Amino acid sequence: MKLDPRREQLLRRTFLDYQQTADFLRHPLVLDRAEGLYYWDWQGKRYFDAIGGIFVATLGHRHPRLMAALERQLAKMTLAPPMHGIADVALDFVEKIGTVTPGNLKYMKSFSGGSEAIESAIKFVRQYFKQTGHPGKYKFISRYHGYHGGTAGAMAASGTGSRKTKFEPQMPGFLKVFPPTYYRDRFQSWQECNRFCARMVEDVIVNEDPETVAGFIVEPIGNTGGIVTPTEEYFQILREICTRYNVMLIFDEVITGFGRTGSMFAAQTFGVTPDLICCGKGLSSGIMPIGAMIAREDMAEAFWGKAEDDVHFAHGHTFAGNPLACAVGIAVVEEIVEKGLAERARELGEYLAGKLEGL
Ligand SMILES: Cc1ncc(COP(=O)(O)O)c(C=O)c1O
Repeated sequence: MKLDPRREQLLRRTFLDYQQTADFLRHPLVLDRAEGLYYWDWQGKRYFDAIGGIFVATLGHRHPRLMAALERQLAKMTLAPPMHGIADVALDFVEKIGTVTPGNLKYMKSFSGGSEAIESAIKFVRQYFKQTGHPGKYKFISRYHGYHGGTAGAMAASGTGSRKTKFEPQMPGFLKVFPPTYYRDRFQSWQECNRFCARMVEDVIVNEDPETVAGFIVEPIGNTGGIVTPTEEYFQILREICTRYNVMLIFDEVITGFGRTGSMFAAQTFGVTPDLICCGKGLSSGIMPIGAMIAREDMAEAFWGKAEDDVHFAHGHTFAGNPLACAVGIAVVEEIVEKGLAERARELGEYLAGKLEGL
């Protein structure tokens, strides 16, 4: 559908996400409104949003419960002063998220998006090791074909070819291994392939010197490199290796979090508890920009200190812990839990997978 000259001109003055404007202009999707499972464009044409605004609107667009939570908060307060105060609803948010996270992942900070959550995890883990007697641990291992966000640190952790090389040199201290999908034709079985790829992480840690390696960042189910589910054993092996070498296992659950894999987090689906989870997207079902970094509660001890100490996590954003986002996030978690939506996603996922395999 062609655009009118005004819209076309304005589009040419807009930066699009990871896309050539000339390509976008061949089928320009300029949207006007959304409700439930549908979008409508500026000319009133309706679209079925099968991907939830890229893995975001998991409860549908403008879900009534979430809109009500947003409106209640809108009527009270829309911003808490960063550094000088915190919104009461941000504390409720910490409490609510803590009821659904795996293990003792209860220490958290919320943000405006997934990249901020990843960026913060990188800084948090580096500072954690400096304050717990391992100042040389600064390297992160992640995977080729993975995507962790568009900011400098998150991009350095990503393994997505030209999205990165345009900005090289990258932030130093980031190493890559291949995900199981890369080797899958070279093994007799998927299990064997996953085992090999997980064990490769140990080889990298040992060869780099474990006292220099801080974390392993992984999407439980990758997206940019092909949506293929690893085995549970893959994550068990990664967990053992990370524990053995005091390397933080960081799950990027920006896509997989909040019911999408049949549990609240993919960590629960795979039965493995990481040291940190980064999330975003579905946490607000698209109603507010949101992200969160959730760490082991005991890691907080390294940052408490006395009032006069300088061990606090040296990180912040103006919109971190935004009251509107927190209010919506609480409502999302309540809706998923009360309606059993994670279990529903599992049932429907199995049904869909069965049908697709039939094809
Ligand atoms: C796995 C993963 N991590 C991180 C991000 C970055 O999140 P955001 O775009 O909210 O900054 C994305 C975004 O698509 C993602 O898919």
